[in-house]
Amino acid sequence: MEGTKKRVFASSISPTMVFLFLGFAVLLILPMASATRFTVGGNMGWTTNFNYTTWAKGKHFYNGDWLFFVYDRNQQNVLEVNKTDYEACNSDHPLHNWTTGAGRDVVPLNVTRHYYFISGKGFCFGGMKIAVHVENLPPPPKASPIKSFAPTLSSKGHIFLMPIVFAIGAAWDSFIYLW
Ligand SMILES: *[C@@H]1O[C@H](CO)[C@@H](O)[C@H](O)[C@H]1NC(C)=O
Ligand SMILES: *[C@@H]1O[C@H](CO)[C@@H](O)[C@H](O)[C@H]1NC(C)=O
Ligand SMILES: *[C@@H]1O[C@H](CO)[C@@H](O)[C@H](O)[C@H]1NC(C)=O
Ligand SMILES: *[C@@H]1O[C@H](CO)[C@@H](O)[C@H](O)[C@H]1NC(C)=O
Repeated sequence: MEGTKKRVFASSISPTMVFLFLGFAVLLILPMASATRFTVGGNMGWTTNFNYTTWAKGKHFYNGDWLFFVYDRNQQNVLEVNKTDYEACNSDHPLHNWTTGAGRDVVPLNVTRHYYFISGKGFCFGGMKIAVHVENLPPPPKASPIKSFAPTLSSKGHIFLMPIVFAIGAAWDSFIYLW
């Protein structure tokens, strides 16, 4: 009985249609499900005379996001320090030196905690310091089989996965019955 139902369904939708739909669905969903790369300071980048506390205010940094520091490689740098050294602008014992030399450094925020970054060479005293609190992704609305279906997609995208799951299901059915 169920087989007959599926057969009718499959014959009324061509596989090409299903794959076209799938393609569009994936194109639409992928950017929403991906993590965020924050360019520190926005268009200003990592520079002097900018208040990074104000910039970070109201933003949510989630585990899996990145910070992107863009700056003059001949002048500033990017050092991760602890809270004490952040407050004191002490760059003598950084926890991590993220400076690669290109003036474009990407820092993965892959642990749920506070991160503190400063520029050495005295620039921290001019305001080149930023503290971000990295949070866990908000829990998905409801536990569902979608989670195990797409373990690599963040929960930001869960809500948009529904159509894909149905589309894939439909495509699969067509496959099986048209083969
Ligand atoms: C930061 O590191 C300095 C030097 O290693 C240390 O004296 C200080 O207690 C540390 N602060 C925190 C909050 O861990
Ligand atoms: C950080 O690393 C860069 C590139 O390896 C290096 O040139 C620079 O001296 C280092 N800075 C500190 C403070 O360790
Ligand atoms: C976070 O990223 C850093 C740098 O890529 C890496 O060394 C570290 O192992 C990562 N930590 C976790 C918990 O994934
Ligand atoms: C940045 O602005 C905050 C208020 O949003 C202020 O408390 C802080 O002192 C400012 N920092 C600098 C370096 O001017």
